[in-house]
Amino acid sequence: MQTGLTTAILPAGRATVEACARTLADGGLVAFPTETVYGLGADATNAFAIARLYQAKGRPAFNPLISHVGDLAAARAVGRFDDTALVLAETFWPGPLTLVLPRAGGCAVAELATAGLETIAVRIPSHPIALAILNAFGRPVVAPSANLSGHVSPTTAAHVQGDLDGHIDLIVDGGPVEVGVESTIVGCFDEPMLLRPGGLPREDIERVLGCALAQPPAGTMTDSPQPLAPGMLASHYAPRTRVRLDATSIEAGEALLAFGVPAPAADGAAAVMNLSPRGDLNEAAANLFGYLRALDAKRASAIAVMPIPEEGLGEAINDRLRRAAVGR
Ligand code: TXA
Ligand code: MG
Repeated sequence: MQTGLTTAILPAGRATVEACARTLADGGLVAFPTETVYGLGADATNAFAIARLYQAKGRPAFNPLISHVGDLAAARAVGRFDDTALVLAETFWPGPLTLVLPRAGGCAVAELATAGLETIAVRIPSHPIALAILNAFGRPVVAPSANLSGHVSPTTAAHVQGDLDGHIDLIVDGGPVEVGVESTIVGCFDEPMLLRPGGLPREDIERVLGCALAQPPAGTMTDSPQPLAPGMLASHYAPRTRVRLDATSIEAGEALLAFGVPAPAADGAAAVMNLSPRGDLNEAAANLFGYLRALDAKRASAIAVMPIPEEGLGEAINDRLRRAAVGR
């Protein structure tokens, strides 16, 4: 493990963007905000930089990475777009959508980043700092969420620092992110398939496609050795504390993760946090990982989570919570 590295934390701005581009070109690791979560970026064409990235995250080496690019031309240089993929790209990019496409001939992204797959995951993020870095650097940047493998995704620079200080070169502090859950991943296969629910609601995609997104085949969600999206491994998002879902009451010593009102009586609770007292799923998504982290630190017997509606961003929130509940 890389240790003893001094991790600079810089405020967003022109000089910082230039420092990021230089660090990436030198094979360094840069954490930066995207609209979904903070990403840990490395030069996607530099296998050594990517190896360092896996090492810094402690991530299982079979987990392929998303290549982030600044515009559609750059995306077409790494992945092959069919008509459906083009419609989705033109409608939703820049934004919280990742497309899994066949690798383009001459794609410069290192095999290590795609874990040997014939496909590649690509996205254009909408965060202005992310876009500025991508445009200044001019090559694709792989960027998994900037947390240690198995921890929840970071939504502030402080979360990144807590996990990766001393292991990466640079953290750009762009304040809290807007969306709070990772991008939605759509596999552009014979039929477009929802590989990971995320920051772009399924309904928005289906409205544009005029049909339902296919579901991944049974088994690939949890236990396949080479799942379609290994981030879908059941235990990917696991706090240390046990997570109890659909809680309608709370036991003494538990921490309560509430949603909406009224929250159940929580007299003996170790802690109470409400994802959105007004029942807003977007607000809940933005708070989700930060609150899970905060409650995980309370040494409670369990984190009891109130039911959250399975609509809009609720689908992604419940997906992350179910993974958290599986444990490691
Ligand atoms: O919002 C996001 O997508 C964030 C920000 C930083 O952009 N990134 C992110 O990356 O969530 P990561 O590495 O934590 O998750 C990437 C997911 C994994 O589930 C991985 O298995 C899947 O993308 N993936 C990557 N390449 C794939 C491929 N060729 N086929 C299927 N799934 C793929
Ligand atoms: Mg992640």
